[in-house]
Amino acid sequence: MVSVIEVVRARIFVAAAGLGRTRQNLYPLFLETTMPQTKILLDESDIPTHWYNVVADMPNKPLPPLGPDGQPVGPEKMAAIFPMNILEQEMSSERWIAIPEPVREIYRMWRPSPLFRAHRLEQVLGTPCKIYYKYEGVSPAGSHKPNSAIPQAYYNKIAGINRLTTETGAGQWGCSLALAGQMFDMEIRVYMVKVSYQQKPFRRSMMQTWGAEVFASPTNLTETGRGILASDPENQGSLGIAISEAVEEAASRADTNYALGSVLNHVLLHQTIIGQEAKKQFEKVGDYPDMIFAPCGGGCNFAGVSFPFLADKAAGDKRAENLRCVAVEPTSCPSLTKGVYAYDFGDASGFTPLMKMYTLGHDFMPPGIHAGGLRYHGVSPLISQLYHEKLIEAVAVPQVATFEAGVMFARAEGIIPAPESCHGIRAAIDEALRCKASGEPKTLLINLSGHGHFDMASYDKYFAGELVDFEYPEHEIEAALARLPKVG
Ligand SMILES: Cc1ncc(COP(=O)(O)O)c(C=O)c1O
Repeated sequence: MVSVIEVVRARIFVAAAGLGRTRQNLYPLFLETTMPQTKILLDESDIPTHWYNVVADMPNKPLPPLGPDGQPVGPEKMAAIFPMNILEQEMSSERWIAIPEPVREIYRMWRPSPLFRAHRLEQVLGTPCKIYYKYEGVSPAGSHKPNSAIPQAYYNKIAGINRLTTETGAGQWGCSLALAGQMFDMEIRVYMVKVSYQQKPFRRSMMQTWGAEVFASPTNLTETGRGILASDPENQGSLGIAISEAVEEAASRADTNYALGSVLNHVLLHQTIIGQEAKKQFEKVGDYPDMIFAPCGGGCNFAGVSFPFLADKAAGDKRAENLRCVAVEPTSCPSLTKGVYAYDFGDASGFTPLMKMYTLGHDFMPPGIHAGGLRYHGVSPLISQLYHEKLIEAVAVPQVATFEAGVMFARAEGIIPAPESCHGIRAAIDEALRCKASGEPKTLLINLSGHGHFDMASYDKYFAGELVDFEYPEHEIEAALARLPKVG
């Protein structure tokens, strides 16, 4: 017997033929009747109660941060800019750390975030792969960054701090901390990398809407900024410089602490709610990823999505036996794929302790690519160590190809990805196309770390053919690496 659905389908086909439309551009109409679930959703009660600390499962414990004398830096030395409750998390090797209820309460505003099955993208690519993406753009700031901004503001607040400084590249972290400042009635000052400040004026407006002060870095407000501007008045800024400015100010004022949007252990820890939710969502549809892709700047969204799956691997879970986690970085700022594994400063001026990480040299100035959140000379020490020990992988992709992937994704899936997120999408599409050639039906998971609604000027440049692939800046990197601090 012919079902109602088939009759409706047949009628749509007839109508489509009359309108001159092909089956190809009508296929979304049919997906609903033929495809499995598109959005895999969880209830608010499924928001994780604990963060997962990968340190507990690392085969070798992380190397400590060092002072300029080569000696390990204890929490007391960092207490000038961080509260003790955050420093405890930074040093912790406990596997599970409870999420405070006031933080979970705020997470409920946008979490759990949806996991999508990218049926339409799969169809466009003609790949045998199943592609899923975890969408973090549903947060008020539009990315994963509030997952850590909220707890960082909370821990500072309960430690009696009412004012925070920070840096921002893409503007996503600055927005997230500005929002968190509103939630806990705190003052927020943001040093925004100058090139992003110019490229993304609406990100500045958003931060101001949430009550933050925003300055284009390098500024005249700090010694670091004044020094840089004196020798290079046109300096476009970098995350390393903005971090120096924010840390310098926090260290000089007793009422002010500093909050970092990535890199440090506690930031990666807070992001693990992403992967924990994703695991529950995969369970709901009886699936499990073979490969995970995420953009990698300082590394927190990559860690957030992949560490909870690495926990399965560490626990001997058969499903995770062949799991591959791929950090995707820009070819113009290839910290993991072309950097060296060494002790280096986290900022441009050398205010932070030395951390063992893959680095291009703390004063390397990355080219002004549009993925501002990926313009960082180093990568989180935890990710660096996992990469060094070959437990995770990394690839670098060029700028124009990332926008090409972002546009393809937007046209298939609807969501316009942030330029940073386009990196993870690019690498996943490349894998899906490789599988098309080989016939392998892999399950791929992308962390779609944010939307690109405030990055449309970059998309405009892409459409106008004005975006370029920066050459791998070999000479600048060589020069910056020659200035690595001598340890011990
Ligand atoms: C949307 C988005 N994705 C990714 C990143 C990269 O940061 P991380 O590597 O710390 O996740 C950023 C940084 O600003 C971002 O805004």
